[in-house]
Amino acid sequence: MNSKHRKKSLFFDRLAEERAGHGYDADEIHRVIELIERSGIQPGWRILEPGCGPGLITPLIAERAGFDGRVLALDISPVMVQHCKKRMEELPQVQVEHGAIEEMEGHRGEFDLVFCFNSFPHFCDRDLALQVAVECLRPGGKLVIAHSNSRQRVNEIHMRAGGPVERDLLPEPQALQRPVESHGFKVLELHDGHDSFFLSAEKR
Ligand SMILES: C[S@@+](CC[C@H](N)C(=O)[O-])C[C@H]1O[C@@H](n2cnc3c(N)ncnc32)[C@H](O)[C@@H]1O
Repeated sequence: MNSKHRKKSLFFDRLAEERAGHGYDADEIHRVIELIERSGIQPGWRILEPGCGPGLITPLIAERAGFDGRVLALDISPVMVQHCKKRMEELPQVQVEHGAIEEMEGHRGEFDLVFCFNSFPHFCDRDLALQVAVECLRPGGKLVIAHSNSRQRVNEIHMRAGGPVERDLLPEPQALQRPVESHGFKVLELHDGHDSFFLSAEKR
């Protein structure tokens, strides 16, 4: 991993215990489930989950993909990866790996869905992340960028947290749609809501 990733991973290492212990509150979990449902995961799907964190939503997507499906959960923070691995012990369809999406290699056309949940703004090189996403999807495969809070709230949280995440801002819808489309996706849905954000796109 490069030095930017290492700096960011230290930040998330420190956050890991707290995230792993708390999970989502009752209000947010409804939105999380609604966003997962909206993603349309089908049994047997192969899913890449970059920025899986401690694996709070990984079981929910793995459950929908079923035992014939597969989830590759990836994170730059070794401590997040440790927590995620522990949680996934009973789910053989989930593989958890340490690494950055920007540095993934050798997965051409392998996935049906790249599911970025509460993670996209944190990627150091978003253009490269989109390039990797399009390459590792099959034709017609889906990209989802989802947040269980409004764009404004997400950006407030990151700015307030400061340090290496203070500029990890979720762009305005059109400013996100443009690079997504220029990397070879067709945007299917883009919802910039008062308590959530959801973009889904299909590989052309
Ligand atoms: C806010 S947390 C979200 C975790 C999880 N998706 C959730 O909703 O609970 C963002 C995660 O993205 C990870 N991350 C940041 N940049 C990444 C990158 N370039 N590749 C993979 N993971 C990354 C961080 O280490 C962190 O665990």
